[in-house]
Amino acid sequence: MDFKDVKINEEKAVLENKERVAKDFWRQKYHVQGIVGLINDPNGFTQFKGKYHMFYQWNPLGVDHKNKTWGHSVSDDLLHWERCETALRPDTWYSKNGVYSGSGIVIDGKLYLFYTGNVKDDEGNRESYQCLAVSEDGEHFERWEPSIVNQPDGYTRDIRDPKIWEKDGKYYAVLGIQSEKLEGKVVLYSSENIKDWKFEGEIAGANHGKLKDFGFMWECPDYFQLKDEKTGKILDLLVVSPQGLEPEGDLYQNKYQTGYFFGKLDYAKPEFEISSDFVEIDRGHDFYAPQSMEDDKGRRLIVGWMGVPEEEEDFPMTKNGWIHSLTLPRELKVIDGKLYQLPIKEMETIRGEKIEFSSKVKGTEKVGTGTIYELNAKFKNITGNVGLKLRVGKESETILKLDYADKKFVLDRSKGEQVDKSLRKVALDNVNELELTVFVDNSSIEVFINGGKEVFSSKILPKFGADGIEVFADNETDVEIVKWEWK
Ligand code: FRU
Repeated sequence: MDFKDVKINEEKAVLENKERVAKDFWRQKYHVQGIVGLINDPNGFTQFKGKYHMFYQWNPLGVDHKNKTWGHSVSDDLLHWERCETALRPDTWYSKNGVYSGSGIVIDGKLYLFYTGNVKDDEGNRESYQCLAVSEDGEHFERWEPSIVNQPDGYTRDIRDPKIWEKDGKYYAVLGIQSEKLEGKVVLYSSENIKDWKFEGEIAGANHGKLKDFGFMWECPDYFQLKDEKTGKILDLLVVSPQGLEPEGDLYQNKYQTGYFFGKLDYAKPEFEISSDFVEIDRGHDFYAPQSMEDDKGRRLIVGWMGVPEEEEDFPMTKNGWIHSLTLPRELKVIDGKLYQLPIKEMETIRGEKIEFSSKVKGTEKVGTGTIYELNAKFKNITGNVGLKLRVGKESETILKLDYADKKFVLDRSKGEQVDKSLRKVALDNVNELELTVFVDNSSIEVFINGGKEVFSSKILPKFGADGIEVFADNETDVEIVKWEWK
């Protein structure tokens, strides 16, 4: 294909499909999604000239993992997103088979994107280029020739997804990579001038340091620090998306996972000294390859891809020409050594009509109706199973249940048009009380449990008209619910 056709084909696909996509009743209201086609990882999440910028892996031409561009949207409040001109297209020799994931950084009033150019040669062999693009206006990007060509010795050409940051006037980036022994790893690069990059070394991975076998590839690494709100201690976190972990009890249930390690980054060695287990960030069906950024309010915000690789065929919206969205942005906090994820404050600004429910519940009770909303439920004096049924009707309900005997929270989204009937579960330390904050969009649910100690993000596929909200309790339980329709 001629490179000049790349843009033409994209514009044609958008024109041809956008109305059909817009009419699909599973389209999301407050989530970043592609105007048509498939999206995956959030990329280049930054703040520039007063706006939040979100880029994302976007295939405008189909609902499969091909033709990856960087779609681009901007927002004032992280909730209302306006689509911009596509930032990067696979129309250069060094990105001809996909402009893969990467990150952004603002330096001296310019927005820099650092990303992976994916190339397949005539025999189908991969070439990977780490490249920069720079913008003065946040809309048009000048692309530079590759800064890093392929991999250091001892690794395969699976090297990608640079996440960049600045420290003491120097730039650093972590990249996901695969060793020649087919182990997932993270490597550190550094740069004095943003253009020329030096390989510093491998800082973490499977069969590295204390960690044993841990997957064949690690994608989309992220590194940042958070201050413990209680102890004041600064903690380092390394977020990675390993591929190839086997399910273990309730853990690692998705095709691929995303989680974090606490530790300490030693730049000189270089080494990320891991000091915790790997903890999955999200326990739902659909969360992968997240990216974080610190905003001008000093918040560490994170957004994930609300999807996992290779699940597209299970989802009927593909027939209408689109699939996937990003999660709502969340704020990360460490409190007493534990990572919490909190809904962002801005969520309150889209609260519309409110209903309140306060009662002792035994059996099942109707709370109201709604299809896109925020709901907060507090259960007290629990002595048996309790929970919520959302999007009830037409055999579509999603069930959020505290399993009292098992001491677990369970998400059951098996109804509606769902093909994958599997449950997701997490153990709870206290089952006498439960607080759920739930965000329901047309085809997704995000559940924050007990103040953000655990989060579940899952796609749901309720049938048209399924809008009931119910609460249930095996034994009499005190329940307080507040629900806000989204404006
Ligand atoms: C993760 C990922 C990245 C890659 C991108 C391609 O979902 O595989 O490693 O850069 O998607 O779309």
